[in-house]
Amino acid sequence: MQIYKVGGAVRDRLLGKPVTDIDWVVVGATTEEMLAKGFRPVGADFPVFLHPKSGEEYALARTERKSGRGYGGFTFHASTEVTLEEDLIRRDLTINAMAEDDQQNLTDPYHGQRDLEARLLRHVSPAFAEDPLRVLRVARFAARYAGLGFTVAPETLELMRQLSESGELEALTAERSWKEISRALMEDQPQVFIEVLRECGALKVLMPEVDALFGVPQPEAHHPEIDTGVHTLSVLEQAAQHKQSLTVRWACLLHDLGKGLTPEEEWPRHIAHEHKGLKLIKAVNERFKAPKDCQELALLVGEYHTHGHRALELKPSTLLELLQSFDVYRRPQRFEEFIAACEMDARGRKGLEQRSYPQADYLRGAANAARTVAVQPLLEKGFKGPELGEAIKRERLKVLKTYKEKA
Ligand code: CTP
Repeated sequence: MQIYKVGGAVRDRLLGKPVTDIDWVVVGATTEEMLAKGFRPVGADFPVFLHPKSGEEYALARTERKSGRGYGGFTFHASTEVTLEEDLIRRDLTINAMAEDDQQNLTDPYHGQRDLEARLLRHVSPAFAEDPLRVLRVARFAARYAGLGFTVAPETLELMRQLSESGELEALTAERSWKEISRALMEDQPQVFIEVLRECGALKVLMPEVDALFGVPQPEAHHPEIDTGVHTLSVLEQAAQHKQSLTVRWACLLHDLGKGLTPEEEWPRHIAHEHKGLKLIKAVNERFKAPKDCQELALLVGEYHTHGHRALELKPSTLLELLQSFDVYRRPQRFEEFIAACEMDARGRKGLEQRSYPQADYLRGAANAARTVAVQPLLEKGFKGPELGEAIKRERLKVLKTYKEKA
């Protein structure tokens, strides 16, 4: 049997990037031979094994054919007859379809190295279309390597467009899509992921609520970039530049969905977009089964981001409501993430990227002030149950009034 390193490990070594996990392909071996060498099969009838010591994946060279809709509809053929070239041709991109032996001799039948140099994400063959998830993968790689100058080859973009129009994307499971989306959002230029999806028509299918923001104007005084879609991309770009968490990035992407619902005659104003957007945010959250912390923050940021911007003008009672909604007493981290998302929203505007955001410290200070209210003295005064709750609120309000006066 011959063993080769394949996929991302070869690509990233040639790009001079750190290699984290290595995939191997094994040519000329049978399942029995692999088991005899101590490899552990990953599934009952899938020709992929884990190395007994390193735990890395070793796959028997195989060909694949699509036999139905979605990801389940696959038949594969692994045998000692399948060549390395046959295994490589079923892969997504030329830069992912190179193999290397233990002497670092490269097998590159589909010119991955040439495309690495040309900074092109290009599909290997029409077999690309057999897995619609690849539309998201290509957009994710575009987000990751945009800084190196990579773009999607026009013929690959065309294929992605056809796949998006074919209805195949609807067959993707929430889990597989979320895995790609969440990884893409954590790349250096997550806005490129959204741009590429939009360009090939996949955004309209996957997140029509985000797609609908493009072409929707906002008042120029607050939004020199005017277009809501462009603004959303800038907010995401800021979030990546400030190394924000996935929860914050997800909230940034969805914070303005309500603006897509404003009737044209009301443009460029978007009255109550915060509240109107909530049902859309909920729908996107559920569509991809986003983790609970992502879902929660996206909804809170959607509802309260304008409160964040107007923090210094808020009445103490409104400020208190905001702090209560976030349960800042038990969930300090979540409030920090809200502040971060608001700040990214404020900076994700043309020419305003470097602006200061005094609201952040003001909100932090307000939360700290409200936290100073101690419960014990109120208990000692005999307050219980709902009355205790009211008494705590009254005390917090007092503290916030003083805080606002002094600020
Ligand atoms: N692959 C593919 N189509 C997919 C998934 C994977 O063709 N839908 C192939 C590619 O050749 C890829 C390899 O399987 O390089 C390994 O896949 P994976 O580990 O998911 O990706 P990597 O390329 O290693 O990229 P990453 O750095 O994002 O992990």
